[in-house]
Amino acid sequence: PYPNLAPTPPMGWNNWSYYMCDINEKVILDNARALVRTGLARRGYRTVTVDDCWMTKQRGPDGELVADPVKFPHGMAYVGRQLHAMGLKFGIYEDVGTATCGKFPGSLGHFRQDAEQFARWKVDYLKADGCHVPVPAGQTKEQAYREAYGKMSRALTATGRPITFSVSAPAYFQYSGDSVWHQVIDWSARLGNLWRGGADIATREQDPAAKWSSIVYNFDYNAKLAPLQRPGRWNDPDFLLTGDPGLTADETRSQMSLWSMMAAPLISSTDLTRIGATARRALGNRDVIAVDQDPLGVQGRIVAQGDGFTVLSKPLKNGDRAVALFNSGDSRRTLATTAAAAGLPPAASYRLRELVTGRTTSAGRDIVAKDVPPHATVLYRITARRPARR
Ligand code: GLA
Ligand code: GLA
Repeated sequence: PYPNLAPTPPMGWNNWSYYMCDINEKVILDNARALVRTGLARRGYRTVTVDDCWMTKQRGPDGELVADPVKFPHGMAYVGRQLHAMGLKFGIYEDVGTATCGKFPGSLGHFRQDAEQFARWKVDYLKADGCHVPVPAGQTKEQAYREAYGKMSRALTATGRPITFSVSAPAYFQYSGDSVWHQVIDWSARLGNLWRGGADIATREQDPAAKWSSIVYNFDYNAKLAPLQRPGRWNDPDFLLTGDPGLTADETRSQMSLWSMMAAPLISSTDLTRIGATARRALGNRDVIAVDQDPLGVQGRIVAQGDGFTVLSKPLKNGDRAVALFNSGDSRRTLATTAAAAGLPPAASYRLRELVTGRTTSAGRDIVAKDVPPHATVLYRITARRPARR
């Protein structure tokens, strides 16, 4: 892709999980204004992506994509201008097959034309789905996807406009650990800046239990992919539901903490015009965002896991470690690890700053989180203390 477009994980907002196809210019721009008003844009949430269903069912007379005239009466270039005027970036959704998941025209056979159109509209970010990629006789599925994503990636580069490229291909293969799957990740990482894996995170109309289990599923799935991540190329476990009705405050904060430990893209997908104070604070937590956006750019790894809990550790640029102790079980429990297991250098003592509460404590070799509520995560930023000078 265009070089250095995503030195840290992309951040922003996408309408899909909350609004699905029920979008229009007002929904998008009202949420964009809310990003600015709530201060979340200043914290880094800057790319506003219009997901599926923004276009008409047929291409125009010259084969061009046409914005739905009812939903987007002023067209897509206008949406981009409004977003740019707010200091935000403009993201859009397409599919590299014959049709999008919502059955709107896909880019297959029109890669150059669509990329040029996006560049004219001043698009900054493309989410390229792969819902209807035909597999011609004599080709494997992997070849067909590789070819389609390759064409889209090269078409974007040829426009000369820096457009961050989000690749959905791995979501259509699913982890098997076999060589085909590794090939898919390999070219997804070469062609794009971030790529989707796992399943779709729950949408608004799903019940609270389904929302939480989709978060846990994508966390488990994505945490295992840490060895495939490199700085500048990101595993994407899908949207943050933070703010959605149905999730508890602990669940909402857990998703934010776990996604940050995984150096995941932080893409909110809720109704920001009505977001409550708790969710807004969780999304905007500077210290948690700093873990996600840490310039070292390394996805945290699982250092311990058992029935109902996971402990992750993530190295940070200044030599600190972020350590998350996640209680995925249904009752309160105390979770613990050691400084050595978390990869910290030997020291007489450690300074632990809990990033959700802001409380600072001191510890010896044992890193403990007492009485963690069900579905909650304790997130420490840990600094090795130098031995006192005499
Ligand atoms: C797929 C994607 C979702 C969303 C829909 C739109 O399911 O995974 O994120 O883009 O398509 O139809
Ligand atoms: C569904 C989802 C897609 C993708 C595929 C993978 O269709 O909507 O986004 O995850 O499953 O099989």
